[in-house]
Amino acid sequence: MILSPSLLSANFSRLAEELQALEAAGVTWLHLDVMDGAYVPNITFGPPLIKALRPGSGLFFDVHLMVQDPSRYIRNFRDAGADMLVIHAEADRHPQRTLSAIREMGCKAGVALNPGTDLGAIRWLINDMDMLLLMSVNPGFSGQAFIPATFDKIRAARSLMDACGGEDVLIQVDGGVCPENTAQLVEAGADVLVSGSAFFGHKPYGARLAAFMKPLEGRQTRPALQVAALWQPSGHFNV
Ligand code: DX5
Ligand code: ZN
Repeated sequence: MILSPSLLSANFSRLAEELQALEAAGVTWLHLDVMDGAYVPNITFGPPLIKALRPGSGLFFDVHLMVQDPSRYIRNFRDAGADMLVIHAEADRHPQRTLSAIREMGCKAGVALNPGTDLGAIRWLINDMDMLLLMSVNPGFSGQAFIPATFDKIRAARSLMDACGGEDVLIQVDGGVCPENTAQLVEAGADVLVSGSAFFGHKPYGARLAAFMKPLEGRQTRPALQVAALWQPSGHFNV
């Protein structure tokens, strides 16, 4: 499992220090929640913040775009230093086109689905994506309660993708993740877990990362996840 802490719950007045502390603790990914106030009822940050953080960080920037018509902005996020761009299937009229454009720019591409969106939305996108993000809360805010139906959705998503040539596509789960549910999530088929409030409130981060990983001891890692664990910041950014 890869843990991707969500920047949204970090101390915004000390972001550079927070990122350094994450790396020192052994964290490898950072989840960046971009909200536009239109697709979701909240506003966070955009490319300038990512650009400011990029030079000081070796973390893999996993950028979750909760933005209407994300194709308008993918170039800006890529230039700012994003390594993976995840678009919401519900927010894009032509997701296949956007995913292809993201990959052509040298970024990894992902699709996010809200709790109520059926997996049929990604059935014909499986070969165009590197990761499926299953929302386990409704997007917009950290600190919400995990929706239990997600467990069955993860199992169904893994079966669907394995049956359709998508064995290498990762499954990420986002919302309400905590050390108490990591084992069940990974058991169901999750590869990458996002955590905001259950991670950042608890220092030191090394011990907190260990608390998320401990329930998984002794489990086999999927080959696709072993490959993904080697993904590095691609260095394509113009900073
Ligand atoms: C929700 C965001 C999540 C959120 C997770 O819209 O996409 O990434 O920050 O926060 P927690 O882990 O607190 O649910
Ligand atoms: Zn997110």
